[in-house]
Amino acid sequence: MSTPGERQEEGGEPSAVEFRGVTKIYAPGTPREYVAIRDVNFRIPDRPHHGEICSFLGPSGCGKSTVLRLVAGLEPQHPPTTGSVRVLGREILGPGADRGMVFQDYTSFDNRTVLDNVVFGLECRGVPRRRREAEGRDWIERVGLDPVRDARKYPHELSGGMRQRVAIARTLILRPRVILMDEPFGALDPATRLDMQDLLVRLWREAEATVLFVTHSVEEAVYLGDRVFLMATTPGRIAEEIRLPAPSAPAREAQSEPWFNEHVRQIHERIERIEAAAKPRE
Ligand SMILES: Nc1ncnc2c1ncn2[C@@H]1O[C@H](COP(=O)(O)OP(=O)(O)OP(=O)(O)O)[C@@H](O)[C@H]1O
Ligand SMILES: [Mg+2]
Repeated sequence: MSTPGERQEEGGEPSAVEFRGVTKIYAPGTPREYVAIRDVNFRIPDRPHHGEICSFLGPSGCGKSTVLRLVAGLEPQHPPTTGSVRVLGREILGPGADRGMVFQDYTSFDNRTVLDNVVFGLECRGVPRRRREAEGRDWIERVGLDPVRDARKYPHELSGGMRQRVAIARTLILRPRVILMDEPFGALDPATRLDMQDLLVRLWREAEATVLFVTHSVEEAVYLGDRVFLMATTPGRIAEEIRLPAPSAPAREAQSEPWFNEHVRQIHERIERIEAAAKPRE
């Protein structure tokens, strides 16, 4: 069912995110002109009260961040050179409250405490102090931090994992329908990374949002992804789309199961095939 103002896509089912024939050329018409992605098409259905986690996997430079930032409506990726980027049935015209982005490099304000970082978006929306701070403490707790002790800390007093928890709280407090995550756990040690995957799955279930998740880890993509997009490079494009079971067990448990390792092996094989096909012939 669509909410008022949302347009039903042709075929009846609305899309959470849809790319139609999207090409992005950086610095067009200059000697530095570069085709980052060409003719990218995909559709992630909007499943009310569920949402999907979709992983994007591909070699460095294949355009994963370009795709995410086009969805976010951030320049200079936005607008696409050609094609259409739609979220919840509407053409993207710029950043919006329906989308929230978590970056790899812990984007917090250094001069704000954890609490003030988490409530920043609510402050911009004009939510009164008492209400936003109560909500902020609630989110600090939800992401596994201490709502009193950690709330007072500044970003430089936090570990990488804690900073990423703050970044997630800061984004989710605004309840976006689409969450964009660009290698959010890439800099974390393997154990913290598994904890963060569990945290993401728990929060995603509550948020009922669609998550677009960029990673270089096949294991992470397979564990989190209801859907995995394998990208190829030069120019960047989607080579394959794979459907997978949604995460049903904690990360450590699921990732030691034989079926899981079989999916990982198959995806490595497909990546090798895609890379071999992309190599110029001798
Ligand atoms: N603002 C920009 N101006 C010019 N070229 C850019 C710009 N941003 C990205 N590119 C180029 O577009 C291509 C795709 O970049 P993008 O950052 O989307 O790749 P990626 O798949 O996210 O790579 P990584 O895995 O290394 O993060 C790269 O060749 C990059 O050099
Ligand atoms: Mg990137």
